[in-house]
Amino acid sequence: MITRDLSALPKRDVYRILSSLVIPRPIAWISTVDREGCLNLAPFSSFMGIFGPPMLAVTLGRRRDGSLKDTHRNLQESGEAVVHLADLPLLGPLHASADEVGPEVSEVDRLGLAVEASDCVAPPRLQDAPVALECRLNRELELGPGSTLVLLDVVRIHAADRIWSEEHDCADASRWAPLSRLASVAGPNYGALGQTFRLGPSALP
Ligand SMILES: Cc1cc2nc3c(=O)[nH]c(=O)nc-3n(C[C@H](O)[C@H](O)[C@H](O)COP(=O)(O)O)c2cc1C
Repeated sequence: MITRDLSALPKRDVYRILSSLVIPRPIAWISTVDREGCLNLAPFSSFMGIFGPPMLAVTLGRRRDGSLKDTHRNLQESGEAVVHLADLPLLGPLHASADEVGPEVSEVDRLGLAVEASDCVAPPRLQDAPVALECRLNRELELGPGSTLVLLDVVRIHAADRIWSEEHDCADASRWAPLSRLASVAGPNYGALGQTFRLGPSALP
């Protein structure tokens, strides 16, 4: 058994080790717009859903030079975002959208992705993403140097017909394979939903 005291390790080692253990992580693929209307898109896997109230939590780091990531700056300025969940056909563009480019460069244009207008927020949504969640910034929490937890209220959801169960009026996980993030350096770094199970209520007391 490997045991490590994370408090004794440099930040880089903590990230490498802990992010290789907490897997698979869903990936928030986030579109935002800046003051000039430039559409930004980037993936974030320090991400979870909070289902009551309907919120999402995302942790945003800083750029290498210490400045805010475009997503973070745009969220602070406009308070709006669309969080997409992607499946396998979108793996290439999702990965490429993490490239560090200048704020004047739209990853959506660069990658040739099609968008359509959102209902409630300014950032448009990706046409081919199976899930798009329109969000408004609720609050930010500084977690330490260069790490900010962002809480988003989900104000509207969109899901592709192909993943939807009419019977249950919700998405059916057997109809799509959402992408997930695995470890950053050892072994595969992405996954798509693989083996799945449906169990009834547990027989244990
Ligand atoms: C799959 C994946 C997951 C990522 N998760 C995070 C994350 O949780 N937090 C973060 O700050 N950066 C994360 N990144 C890095 C950002 O996507 C990257 O810094 C990006 O350039 C930010 O873009 P922006 O400046 O346009 O917002 C991730 C990258 C990839 C490929």
